[in-house]
Parts: sequence; structure tokens; C-alpha cells
Amino acid sequence: MSHEQREVIDEIIGKIRSGRMTRRTFLERAVAVGLSSTAAVSLLEACGGTSNSTGGNGQTTSVIWLNGHDASGTYKALTDTFNKQNNGVHVTYTDGPSDTGQLLTIFTTMLRARSSSYDIMSMDIIWPPEFGANGWTAPISTTQWPTSERANYLPGPIQGCTYNGQLWAAPLFTDAGLLYYRTDLVPTPPTTWADMVTMSKAVEPSKVKYGYLWQGAQYEGLVCDFVEVLYGYGGNVLDPNNPKNVTVNSAEAQQALTEMVSWVGTISPAAVTTFKEEDARNSWQNGDSAFMRNWPYAYSLGQDPASSKIVGKYDVHPLLYGGSGTAGHSNIGGWQLGINAYSKVPDAAWTFIHYMLSSASQKFIAMNASELATLESVYSDADVLAKVPFFAKMPNILKTALPRPVSPFYPDVSNAIQLRVHSALTKQSTVSAALSALASDLQAIVSK
Ligand code: GLC
Repeated sequence: MSHEQREVIDEIIGKIRSGRMTRRTFLERAVAVGLSSTAAVSLLEACGGTSNSTGGNGQTTSVIWLNGHDASGTYKALTDTFNKQNNGVHVTYTDGPSDTGQLLTIFTTMLRARSSSYDIMSMDIIWPPEFGANGWTAPISTTQWPTSERANYLPGPIQGCTYNGQLWAAPLFTDAGLLYYRTDLVPTPPTTWADMVTMSKAVEPSKVKYGYLWQGAQYEGLVCDFVEVLYGYGGNVLDPNNPKNVTVNSAEAQQALTEMVSWVGTISPAAVTTFKEEDARNSWQNGDSAFMRNWPYAYSLGQDPASSKIVGKYDVHPLLYGGSGTAGHSNIGGWQLGINAYSKVPDAAWTFIHYMLSSASQKFIAMNASELATLESVYSDADVLAKVPFFAKMPNILKTALPRPVSPFYPDVSNAIQLRVHSALTKQSTVSAALSALASDLQAIVSK
């Protein structure tokens, strides 16, 4: 879409939302600027053009939210509940792609065009520094969200939303990689990666097709899976005390990546090098595997008898370690809600975000999406623990969880890891060659 087209679209979105344009004129102008009539109608609906009417107490402000894909329906349900409260704000929930990189492309395209097609953005924990540096989200002030209230939320995710002393988004839920295991096939979970391999090979082939499912496609998720194995072997990508010092070409990394390469086509399907979270989860729920690495969201989806063959047959365990490592480390993920800096309705957007941070919403997220609420009290809530018992294990797992490499050049760092690790997994290069190439890529990036 050209800059001019985008400007016209923005203008008519602004007008339809504020009630200054009829539906008919909106559709005519949208089609005149090049949208198909189907796209124009969807845009009109997304803008609240069908519901942007006066409620009992005056004008309704329409807000549009783009979330990543949510197979559980939790976020749509919360939005519906909010809309029924009839508080002068109507939020349109939009379900986006599940690949974080694809979602980022949608947002950066929108933001570079200074557009406000989406007022609220679901933001991955690795984005706030980039969004803050570019001024792409409206900072959240202490008047909106008082310090006394913030104190009730996990400090890590709040820290992750902070850049240059300001809060660029509000933490919706945090994330941590977990080892899922089939309790009917593996009575005692492993502690090391080597144990997991042995157990995978020992499971009756008639019971499951694979030992282990994980995320090996060339995308952001591979960085998470790689650093988890690497940290479990005691290795690191960059020196945490001096991020200009690249430490990835080490004996520990050699062991960790060799371990991952050895899974492909043995305990894991050869196609694992194309798997993202949903590919692993779908195969897991089909009963294909004894183990899986995934995020907490897969827990509640696997308990749905309509789509899962393994209801009640699995549990989660902290991630594993190997070599001279002594403990596993989950990688920290998580999602925040940010307000588009170009939104015409930032106050209404905040009203909704504040509702998503409320105790009722946070509890609903934990119980229905099994996602790690950021409100601390959720972890000791009896209803939550009854519905998602693994929440009792999470405070300890979160204590030893580690971030992906922290760098102002994170997007480049991530792309280099994705490329080099994937080339080793697909045997296009040896482990040594991949690590040495990765080290020189990273050295060039961090020396900028
Ligand atoms: C999860 C995490 C996110 C991560 C992504 C990778 O959504 O929460 O932080 O970047 O997975 O696929």
C-alpha cells in the first residue's frame, strides 16, 4: 500500500470512528483508494463501523486490538466481557499470526507509515527497547498506572517493558519454556538431556511416533529453544557482564548444539527443523510424542477433549541440563499490551489495558489460557491452582529463567542465531563451522 493510500485510509478510519462519516461514504472512499469491497467491509467492521453508535450514556469510542494467535479464545472472551460493561469504549479483538516475527512485520509497517490501524498492540518481550527508542508506543505514566498498583505485578516483566526510564507497555503475561512429558509413558521425568534421549528411545514404538517435539524452524522460537539447551550446558551467547564480548564459540555450545543436531531425525521427526510452537503442540495433542518443549499455553489446550487425545496424561517439568551444567534454565518470553503512539484514542485504549491487568482478567488468563499472569497473587489463588496445578511450580522455574541475549542490536543478533543454528540442524554446516560463523557474525553486530 502506498503512503498516499495509507493516509486516505487513516483519515477515513478517524472519521468513521468519531462518527463524522457515514458507512456508505467510508465504503466508497475505501474502494476508490484500491481496497476490494470485501476488505473495505472488514475494515469497516474492525473500526466499529457497525457498532459505533451511541450507547445509553453517550458516544462509544472504538478501539482496535491486534493480538497474536490465541487458539483458546481467552482474549476474545475477555474483550466480549469488557464490551458488555458498556463503559463508553468498544474494543474489536483481532486474532493475528502466531509467529512473533510476522506480527512484528505488521506492526513495523503500520508504525513506519505513522498509521493507527491498530490502537493496541500485543508486544513480545523482546520488542519494548526497539519500540521505545522509536517512540512507537505511548509511554504509560504513573498517573495512569500508579506505582502502588505496579508493585503487585512480577518485577521481571515490568523491567522488560522499561526502556530509558519509561514504561512502553503493560505486561499481560510472562512466558517460560517447559518440558511436557507423558505421565502414562514416563513415570519419572528426566533431569538431563541425556536421560531424556534414553527415555525417548525406551518408550514402546507402538505407543508414540516420536520421543521429543520442539521448535526447530528458522524463526524467533529457535533462538529460545537454542539458548535453553545452551544455558543448560553452562554456555552463553554474549558475556552478561560485557555484551560486546561474544562467548558463543565455546566447548559448552559445541556440546549443546551437537546434542540438538543429534535429535533431528532420531527421537524427533526430521521435519522438526520446520516446526514452530503450534506444529509441536498439534502433534503432541495427537498423542505422537513422549516429550515436548513448549510454553505454558499448551497446557490448557491439551486438556480439551474435543481436540486432544492426551487429556489427563501429561504434566510439565523444568527444563533439563547436560555436560557440566547443574540446572536447567527456561528462557523468558511473554506478551505486553502497548498503545500505538499514533492512535487517536489512547485514553480509551488504556481503559481496556487496565481492565486486562485487573485481578479478574489476570485470573481468567491463568485459568483459561494457562498463561503466566503477571499479577503475583494469581500464583497462590486456590481456584487457579485447582484448574492449572502446574502454577505451583512456576515461581521456582521463573527464579532461574534467563532472557535471550540482551543487546541494543537484538533483531540482528536473533537473525544470526536463527540462520547459523538452523544450518547446523539441517546439516548444511557442521556444528563447529556454524558456531564459528555465528561468533564472527555476532562480533560484527555487537562491535557496531
Ligand atoms: C512465545 C514467547 C515469546 C517468543 C516466542 C517465540 O510467544 O512468549 O517471547 O518470542 O514464543 O516463538
